[in-house]
Amino acid sequence: MLRLGVNIDHVATLRQARGTAYPDLVEAARVCMQSGAHGITVHLREDRRHVQEADVRALRALPGVPLNLEMANAPEILAIALELRPDEVCLVPERRQERTTEGGLDAAGRERDLRPCVEALRSAGIAVSLFIEADRRQLEASARLGAPYVELHTGRYCDLAGAAAAAELDRLVEGGRIGAALGLRVNAGHGINLANLPGILEIPHLDTLNIGHSLVCAAVFTGLGPAVRAMRGAMDAYRGGRA
Ligand code: PXP
Repeated sequence: MLRLGVNIDHVATLRQARGTAYPDLVEAARVCMQSGAHGITVHLREDRRHVQEADVRALRALPGVPLNLEMANAPEILAIALELRPDEVCLVPERRQERTTEGGLDAAGRERDLRPCVEALRSAGIAVSLFIEADRRQLEASARLGAPYVELHTGRYCDLAGAAAAAELDRLVEGGRIGAALGLRVNAGHGINLANLPGILEIPHLDTLNIGHSLVCAAVFTGLGPAVRAMRGAMDAYRGGRA
């Protein structure tokens, strides 16, 4: 079964926009889990623009809610991860000025920088995932680093149309194949919505999709529970991807 991790960063964005105590991330996590999500993802950014450290602590304390923490390879955030021990950490590149995570982690170019971080997380019993482009060099570097998971960056595919989208999807399909052949577990995420999901479901060997922005947007109209249920229902069409 293809699993759904719901990224609730933008529930925090709404709260931070006014500095209120609501909407409550713990309540959002509960609604997502009751509506069929398999886990919750948050990105604790160095600039704290949405999720705060207290949110991660509160979510970590929730029983039965697998937590995936997205983070940069930064000592301050690594220390928090090692203390709180989320079930999974997804290492992402981070730039202050970006609107959202742009591009994948350069696992191949930054292998030496990443190794101590990956090893510290692994020693703490945390499942490490590397958010990378579907590129053989990046996949091979991820395998060398000993990360059990990669998350293929689907953002570019989700932003494209026509022949360019088809070419990018071919790359993702190939990335799924290469990842599985290297013994990696393959997740995917960024920019996924109900309209582009059928293409995403062509990627083979998928374990989990991490989806955030489109679900929080849909929640404005339908509520969070129905938005998550609709996505889960659509994901049930997964038949293992392109043969
Ligand atoms: N996966 C990773 C690694 C991300 O950085 C993000 C965005 O925070 C997502 C998935 C979710 O992307 P979106 O909000 O576009 O669904």
